[in-house]
Amino acid sequence: MSRLVFVPGAQVEFRGGRALVRSRIADRPDFQTDQPGLIAWLARFAAPVDLDLAAQDLAGPGREIALRAVSYLLDIGVLVEPGASAAAMAPAPAPDRRLSALSVSVYELACDVLGLGPAADTALTERTGIGLDARLAAISGQVESLRQELATMRGPYLSAQLRALGVGPDSRDLQLHVGCGPCHLPGWINLDIHPAPLATNVLWGLPFADGSVRRVFLSHLLEHLFYPNDVQPFLAELQRVLAPGGRIRVVVPDIEQCLRAYAENDDEFFRERRELWPGGDASSTRLEHFLAYAGAGPDPAHIFQAHKFGYDFETLARALARAGFVAIERSGYMQSRDAGLRVDENSEVAGAMHGGRHYSLFVEAIKPETGVAS
Ligand SMILES: C[S@@+](CC[C@H](N)C(=O)[O-])C[C@H]1O[C@@H](n2cnc3c(N)ncnc32)[C@H](O)[C@@H]1O
Repeated sequence: MSRLVFVPGAQVEFRGGRALVRSRIADRPDFQTDQPGLIAWLARFAAPVDLDLAAQDLAGPGREIALRAVSYLLDIGVLVEPGASAAAMAPAPAPDRRLSALSVSVYELACDVLGLGPAADTALTERTGIGLDARLAAISGQVESLRQELATMRGPYLSAQLRALGVGPDSRDLQLHVGCGPCHLPGWINLDIHPAPLATNVLWGLPFADGSVRRVFLSHLLEHLFYPNDVQPFLAELQRVLAPGGRIRVVVPDIEQCLRAYAENDDEFFRERRELWPGGDASSTRLEHFLAYAGAGPDPAHIFQAHKFGYDFETLARALARAGFVAIERSGYMQSRDAGLRVDENSEVAGAMHGGRHYSLFVEAIKPETGVAS
């Protein structure tokens, strides 16, 4: 290889004495340097450059560092041979990886800003004439404008899917399986993020008329939403679409069981929990295991998938009551007053047991016949 160039669309930022080159390979970190000589040397790859010729300008350890940087930039798919076919170019990271990295950056930025205190604003203003608030406003302005653009796509996106599912504004007696994952119930509208029979974000609200739904099933979804700020409006939305007398069945991890097992030093419980949750750290302490399960995630990168809260019956019942549900009661695995809601066995997780017991909490409630919260 001799001639190299930054791949079209490469995200290369030379700013504030630092170069940041975004990785195009999942799980490979971005490239960063604050060495002015290296930054200036790398900047020339904006146009095709003969590597051997460019390397002649370098000597000693600087040459070694530069060549190592080139080798890494090749690995992460950012430097390519000019004219490389699109297929030969490394694929851009999936958007969720990009967003995970962004979540981490925003969190770390917040920590940096808090660490520096007023010094950050003073130094930025002195250096560039643009203070911290204006810099942050520019970033949030970009995020917001992208969100607004995406928001305009929701309506047509959902309408097309609903049409394909045969659901219209006059549809009634629907059955909603919300946060279905890969478990699709026949005869139900199965909703989740993409890909799903009805791909959506439940935080957008539900695209169904008031009172058009007969039953709702959610299994191991609620703990993935922020409580109460996202959970309460979401439960209120479920209440809105349910018909009076319609029933909701909610299954969540039973955090009370973890708390009891912790307090009672029930090692067997935690041993079985770790086996059931092989993704976790097998040598974690009971507390590490329990807190991770209840929502204390390892870092902001897993913000979407991670648990964000945990429920016992009292807390879940209170949340349901605040959303206007009545007749809130504990249920058991595959035990519903409504035969049509005996569907837990379709979930990948609701049937899991340890210590001879189901570890999920099963709760049901109905929308009052009058439509008025009691
Ligand atoms: C643990 S899985 C449960 C899957 C299935 N219900 C089961 O019991 O096996 C949680 C599901 O909630 C979905 N989910 C989480 N947040 C969501 C959101 N904001 N909108 C739609 N689905 C969401 C996830 O995509 C995932 O499929």
